[in-house]
Amino acid sequence: MRILAIESSCDETAAAILANGCQLLANVVDSQVAVHHPYGGVVPELASRKHIENIQPVVEEALAIARLSLDDIDAVAVTQGPGLIGSLLVGLSFAKALAWARDLPCIGIDHLEAHLASPMFAGTPADDTRLEVRELRYPCVALVVSGGHTSIYWQASPTESRLLGRTLDDAAGEAFDKVAKLLGLGYPGGPVITRLAAKGDAHRFALPRAWLDKESLDFSFSGLKTAVALLVREQHDDLAASQADICASFQEAVVDVLVTKTMRAAMRHNAATVALAGGVAANPRLRARLAKEAAAAGMELAAPPPAFCTDNAAMVALAAWLRADRISGLDLGMDVYSRSCVGTTITAR
Ligand code: KG4
Ligand code: ZN
Repeated sequence: MRILAIESSCDETAAAILANGCQLLANVVDSQVAVHHPYGGVVPELASRKHIENIQPVVEEALAIARLSLDDIDAVAVTQGPGLIGSLLVGLSFAKALAWARDLPCIGIDHLEAHLASPMFAGTPADDTRLEVRELRYPCVALVVSGGHTSIYWQASPTESRLLGRTLDDAAGEAFDKVAKLLGLGYPGGPVITRLAAKGDAHRFALPRAWLDKESLDFSFSGLKTAVALLVREQHDDLAASQADICASFQEAVVDVLVTKTMRAAMRHNAATVALAGGVAANPRLRARLAKEAAAAGMELAAPPPAFCTDNAAMVALAAWLRADRISGLDLGMDVYSRSCVGTTITAR
């Protein structure tokens, strides 16, 4: 069974083709970073316009890479939300029209559900199509940390996720982006802060960690962001010399809170696996610290290769496959989907 998946929830136009839940035949991501970089964040209207230009070439490129035509596709999967409404509409309308015209099922996938599937992608392939899809051990505690979300989930299986905690204000990725903007480093903030932090002293500036209630699994990053804004003002005359230390101190503050709360949830729920997903999961300091603490607790860390942490359509295809697998077992009948998009399996706490 070959699933053609489309993702357009934010500023990446992406298409992927996954065969039998384990072979990634194509994975195309067209990033709009250059469009939004001068503005220090994603401009929604520019993003939707760019998706309209990109969507068809990206899907055609995925088919060409996989050496397939639409006749070889068995189902279409698409991110149905949450995300920027104009951006989502482009991918969703394209996918629905394609599925309708070809008489294929169309599977709507929640963006968080897609990120939650991504830790099953394993390995560090030079070539995306050599990526492995592996089974995780359950129960699993998963941290999804991106530009729009910072949430901890408990998972009994790949398709049953319960929310344990979430940010009360900003997402961690949003904090990376805002701090980069304050430092005049452009968008997106994560990669550039990671680079500068590697050269900085993480102990030079004492930045706040919002622990909230003693046992809380929720997050808050708005205070940290304000503290960095005040620090940037204070260091104004010496900003170039302090930049790397500010980045390192900020990154350490974010990582401290993410790791502590994720491990708290993992211990509390006797997790066999700790999973990490979302754009911020590409951060090497976060990956290293969580790997160390999970290993110390006898748990396995599952994190996708960095290129599969940020938005992509491969994870949308995998989530669609997992859902199909749950509905009908590995021997898929094509009547398992409704023609319209189905809802998410994530439950609130
Ligand atoms: O998952 P994603 O591509 O989009 C959303 O669903 O939001 O995540 C994008 C976010 C951005 O905020 C970006 O700054 C952050 O992921 N990010 C990073 C790194 N790479 C991307 N944050 C920290 N360290 C990184 N290396
Ligand atoms: Zn995302």
